Amino acid sequence: MERFTKGLYVKVFALVIVSFMFFAVSGSFAETKDMELERGKTLYERYCAFCHGKKGDGNGPAGHVLFPKPRDFTRGLFKVRTTPTGEPPSDEDIFNIIKFGVPGSSMPSFIEIREGDMKAVAKYVKKFAGITAPPARVIQPGTPPPVTPQLLAKGKEVYNAMRCWECHGYEGRGDGPKAATLKDDWGQIAPPNPFIKNIYKGGGSPQDIYLRFTTGMSGSPMPSYEDSLTDGERWAVIFYNYTLSGIDGVKVPFPSTRKENKPSIVLK
Ligand code: HEC
Ligand code: HEC
Repeated sequence: MERFTKGLYVKVFALVIVSFMFFAVSGSFAETKDMELERGKTLYERYCAFCHGKKGDGNGPAGHVLFPKPRDFTRGLFKVRTTPTGEPPSDEDIFNIIKFGVPGSSMPSFIEIREGDMKAVAKYVKKFAGITAPPARVIQPGTPPPVTPQLLAKGKEVYNAMRCWECHGYEGRGDGPKAATLKDDWGQIAPPNPFIKNIYKGGGSPQDIYLRFTTGMSGSPMPSYEDSLTDGERWAVIFYNYTLSGIDGVKVPFPSTRKENKPSIVLK
């Protein structure tokens, strides 16, 4: 009997120890997660708040002198995504923006900071934007077809029929009849991309551009053409765009590297 009680004590004691260890471990998991967000907050306040504002509303001290204005994250609108219109960006989309910046704007590349730090700050941006779930779908652009005179002719047809020129201009100078009146969702003037400058916010490879007008650029007047153009029509108009930017669009594969927006911030 005594031996039995003793054995029971040992068992209960072991159970208490094991559950204690379990809670200690799971507790520290929760702590690690929060620590990433805390780290993100510290980094954000150090590197981003000057433009994007401490509250993520785009009203940092430098906000009012910049054009375009730094993004107000609280609306949850992101231009450079791999996700369908109306969907939040993927973690990778936000990570890549921090890594490369936004060419043609003051949003710099933070390529110099550690990958883990970029992820932490991306998590903090997601908190401002109220993103709690991953996107339902990510769009894969596939491989561009070979560039032929027929493809370019079809591209021109699409450009005209879809009225891209209304905003981007007949020759891709960003001076279409609607251009001067366009505003974004924040009420700022929103100039259409002048293709002749060959500067793209989300990278200039055919796959990058395919994504921009398949997904649309949320918050800006640039629409999504996922439902209105076939895959073939999308590739055709991309290569026609290249001819407008003066690039001899007949070289495929095209470099698909997204470059960092200089001057990149160099951290010591
Ligand atoms: C010098 C000012 C400046 C700093 C510093 C800055 N940004 Fe930006 N950021 C901008 C501007 C301007 C835009 C808007 C670009 C546009 O709409 O073309 C922007 C846009 C963005 C976007 C939205 C991109 C999209 O797809 O719509 C994200 C995300 C972002 N910034 C994150 C950050 C983070 C994180 C930091 C700090 C690590 C940071 N930014 C630091 C100016 C800045
Ligand atoms: C209602 C006006 C409007 C129409 C129509 C329109 N766009 Fe745009 N587009 C814009 C604006 C505005 C921007 C700039 C968005 C920004 O930088 O914030 C843009 C940007 C772009 C970009 C640049 C993406 C980048 O990475 O910077 C491409 C490429 C583009 N449009 C292609 C097209 C094509 C092709 C069509 C027709 C199928 C088209 N657009 C129709 C307004 C329009």
